[in-house]
Amino acid sequence: MTKSLLFVANWKMSMPFHAACSFVQDNKHELEKLAAPTGTTIVLCPSFVALDALVKMVHNMSIYIGAQNCSDHLAGAFTGEVDAQSLQQINCSYCIIGHSERRSLFRETSEEVAQKAKFLLEHTIIPIICIGETKEQYEAQQTFDILEKQLAPVWQVIDQPTNVVIAYEPVWSIGTGIIPEKEYLQKIFDWLSKQCSQYLSKMIVQLIYGGSVDQNNAKDLAQIAKMDGFLIGGASLDFQKFKNIVLLSR
Ligand code: 13P
Repeated sequence: MTKSLLFVANWKMSMPFHAACSFVQDNKHELEKLAAPTGTTIVLCPSFVALDALVKMVHNMSIYIGAQNCSDHLAGAFTGEVDAQSLQQINCSYCIIGHSERRSLFRETSEEVAQKAKFLLEHTIIPIICIGETKEQYEAQQTFDILEKQLAPVWQVIDQPTNVVIAYEPVWSIGTGIIPEKEYLQKIFDWLSKQCSQYLSKMIVQLIYGGSVDQNNAKDLAQIAKMDGFLIGGASLDFQKFKNIVLLSR
């Protein structure tokens, strides 16, 4: 049986508003074809500013739009923050949370990430919860401890049967062109899958990999059992590369 695969494009702050709109407009038919086979889900994550425009552009297409972050508060005096309810009101389907750039540059804690997951689920948005160890932690063989600590608060807050995505992104692989050994990744995904059956037995969980995914390694990486897709940074900015990743993975 072929597995269902999820492809999430994280455009970070590298795709200005007009470029994000052109990406969808210029490739509308190809995107449609790419997402047509059952079992392929494509999610594009532009900046907050482009969310509403893109949601409207993909209306009637089987392409989904996701945010790159949301507030860990529901409402109030939090200048510059964006709440889960607003994301729901514009029909945003997914939201990336806990990306390593937010954990390191903006000092987000795993408890805050879990709080965001809770609010997103309450607003029927699928959270894409990012976890991953740094190079130092990897070298010190602390990966499983780190992942366990990052996930522990998440297990506490998710209590309703819904969809959740967990993205394993080793920090040392993001934007570096370095991909972990396949055996290493297999161990991680076996472990993640066991953790999810233990703590999220009522949920529909998809486990995806992120970190230097491109058209040269996607086919090979897609062989990893219990891995349901990719969170793609740099290579998702170029439609042809993104398309090749999708085509080569299935
Ligand atoms: P790259 O694909 O550019 O390594 O980025 C991965 C990432 O951070 C996606 O969230």
